[in-house]
Amino acid sequence: MADQHRIFTESELVLASHNKGKLREIAALFAGRPFTVSSAADHDVPEPDETEDSFAGNALLKAHHTIAATGKPAIADDSGLVVPVLNGAPGIYSARWAGPNRDFIMAMQKVNSSLATTGGTDRRAHFICVLALVWPDGHSELFEGRVEGELVWPPRGDRGFGYDPMFVAAGHDLTFGEMDPQEKLDIGHRADAFAKLVAACFP
Ligand code: IMP
Repeated sequence: MADQHRIFTESELVLASHNKGKLREIAALFAGRPFTVSSAADHDVPEPDETEDSFAGNALLKAHHTIAATGKPAIADDSGLVVPVLNGAPGIYSARWAGPNRDFIMAMQKVNSSLATTGGTDRRAHFICVLALVWPDGHSELFEGRVEGELVWPPRGDRGFGYDPMFVAAGHDLTFGEMDPQEKLDIGHRADAFAKLVAACFP
């Protein structure tokens, strides 16, 4: 990633996602800035298939897909749980491990049983969030945020989503499923990536 970042000076930014929660978070982040934030859904842009083999690739793909339809700068994110001893799985397949019914109990069981086949002593994991900010002329900026931790079993807490109930951030005792949601947001991978994005492109 280049040291010299492009500053965002446009009048509108499109979030390449249909997720209302993400749109709210990003709109709050840019509150008071001199540009409007809209979503792919506002422009009737369907979500593309995530066909790339990396977080960055999928984030770029989503942003470029939105720009092709709107002609406006776009921001996209891709995130997931990475378990080094499982060669990075579930990684970019984090959502897909939960199947069409978004069954994260099943996905967490899959992670835990995969860990058992490795001997189960190395339970380190991290969440990653990659943000891609792309301009209509093709210029792109990428930022990666992460939070390190370890996986516990059985899962605990129902305050989060996805793999939260089996993830304990380094230096903490509660799982992300048990933790106060604002505290999770503050120490999480998405906030880390956003902080880097804002510092570089929205100073
Ligand atoms: P996406 O970035 O919306 O495609 O989400 C990828 C998947 O990664 C989600 O469906 C979750 O399974 C997982 N994931 C990403 N961030 C978190 C998190 O903060 N907690 C738990 N699971 C997460």
